[in-house]
Amino acid sequence: MKKTKTILDIRRMKVEGEKITVLTAYDYPFARLMDLAGIDMILVGDSVGTVVAGYDNTLPVTLEEMLYHTRAVVRGTSSALVVTDMPFLSYQVDLAEARRNAGRLIKEGGAQAVKLEGGENIAATIRAIVDMDIPVVGHIGLTPQSIHRMGGFRVQGKEDLQARQLLADARAVEQAGAFALVLEGIPAPLAREITETVSIPTIGIGAGVHCDGQVLVIHDILGLCEKYSPKFVKRFADVSETISQGISDYIREVKAGTFPDDEHSFK
Ligand code: KIV
Repeated sequence: MKKTKTILDIRRMKVEGEKITVLTAYDYPFARLMDLAGIDMILVGDSVGTVVAGYDNTLPVTLEEMLYHTRAVVRGTSSALVVTDMPFLSYQVDLAEARRNAGRLIKEGGAQAVKLEGGENIAATIRAIVDMDIPVVGHIGLTPQSIHRMGGFRVQGKEDLQARQLLADARAVEQAGAFALVLEGIPAPLAREITETVSIPTIGIGAGVHCDGQVLVIHDILGLCEKYSPKFVKRFADVSETISQGISDYIREVKAGTFPDDEHSFK
């Protein structure tokens, strides 16, 4: 019987002051490695569109793609809580569609919770999904699905008016029934104020150290994504070099006719 973390464990960690660790994963091997390492929560992010599929932003990612990646991650996980992103256009059109799509990510994908971007504007949708007993994580601040409104990937909440709106957004998401809230790309003092205001755990990405937990994109922390590296990303390992070396060695040995040798051939 799997001993999987639940949303109750995640909520309790805030109360007990234990930091919550979250990373993104999109496939079985990465999910398995981070699960074995003891990660608390895995996010199947729609960042799969940028770091795996090579798009410039997350907007093209479809529900079917999220289902595929969610199933792979769930198969690699035995202890972490798996949360999956609702991609652009899967929850914005109307409540019925949002509920059906959230339900599919749980029923067909096997995730334990879904994540939606937005604050006051999306509170009714969060409530509609929570009312189906599907746990929801909110996501405010720099919300990548709103890239065109924001005019690019920019830190949000620097001005007073924006900061007050983000506080209102955080309260709206909490009141709508979300069990946790991602704070992305906002000043650290504002993230601290939001964290102290809401009772649900905040998970920061580019939001400073005072959030209840942290999330980063796995490709970023391993140095697998050269294209774009925001200030808040820390490289905890650089595996590109190792991968490139392995590929070059393979090419060299095949060209030279030294692979496969006897050890790697059938008699
Ligand atoms: O898609 C994603 O990876 C995310 C995190 C960066 C929070 O939403």
